[in-house]
Amino acid sequence: MAKFKVFITRRIPQEGIDLLETVADVEINPEDAPLPRPLLLEKAAECDAMIGVLTDRINGEFFDAAKNLKGYANYAVGYDNIDVNEATRRQIPVSNTPGVLTTATAECAWALLFSVARRVVETDHIMRSDKWTGWGPLQFIGGDIKGKTLGIVGAGRIGTEMALMSRGFDMPVLYTSSSGRTNGALEAELNAELVSFEELLKRSDFISLHAPLTPTTKHMFDESAFSLMKKTAYLINTARGPVINEADLVQALQSGEIAGAGLDVYENEPAMAPGLAELDNVVILPHIGSATKSSRTNMATMAARNIIAMLKGETPETCLNPEIFT
Ligand code: DGY
Repeated sequence: MAKFKVFITRRIPQEGIDLLETVADVEINPEDAPLPRPLLLEKAAECDAMIGVLTDRINGEFFDAAKNLKGYANYAVGYDNIDVNEATRRQIPVSNTPGVLTTATAECAWALLFSVARRVVETDHIMRSDKWTGWGPLQFIGGDIKGKTLGIVGAGRIGTEMALMSRGFDMPVLYTSSSGRTNGALEAELNAELVSFEELLKRSDFISLHAPLTPTTKHMFDESAFSLMKKTAYLINTARGPVINEADLVQALQSGEIAGAGLDVYENEPAMAPGLAELDNVVILPHIGSATKSSRTNMATMAARNIIAMLKGETPETCLNPEIFT
């Protein structure tokens, strides 16, 4: 009997590929680069299932091309690149990779927080460029961390983990909730306070952004949000770039409206807003939140298990539209 055909749009850790090869012939984009759109549509037409990444747009045009598709697995927890309603309308299961990258992404948010507050990257450059003239009492003064207020926007899995990691730094924690539901873990463990977005902006010394990108959260951080933040506050983003209006952020960082920012994601990746890279009060990473060995490996095996279930007509473990199986 002919084996299923699975296409993977970007090479993922081998453990996921090995798992898929037990049930399917697997083809992988040979380039370590995003698959050009025409090729994505061509491959969609040929395969039974596909694993894709956050740069692939999985929309009506994709599903029109994907005549035999029995399922699509996103190699990411964020799924703003997928039109889930369109998939559901066509009875095609789609999945993501929640849980396995929670700790890695929360750790990345902390790496950004420490780096920007204590000017780690800026001063590393000074050392490397041989510009340090020796110790001085007024040099490179950064922001305090212990005891400062941490605001979490989007207290889901990653936001909660990031906040829980503040234990040891005695930080009062504020959080927002789009559903209005309280976060039991944060309230029990940290005495965290559920507040409005506006109150969080006004009271936080560090704001860590973990909300998904949706039409509601797009440009949630814009000029008016920055104007409510403390001038001494820092903004950390490991979620999705377009939640911040990046041009407004550059302006806020240049004018001293806020003290600094730590960014792992950008509005138009891989590009950055003009002026951002020239600023000393921003730390910029190339979207590496989930980039640890175990996270990326577990994302690969989770995506593979999801595809295997989809090929069998079963509900995948982290299905975004499970209602199609009822
Ligand atoms: C995700 O999973 O959504 C990250 O942005 C990439 O791992």
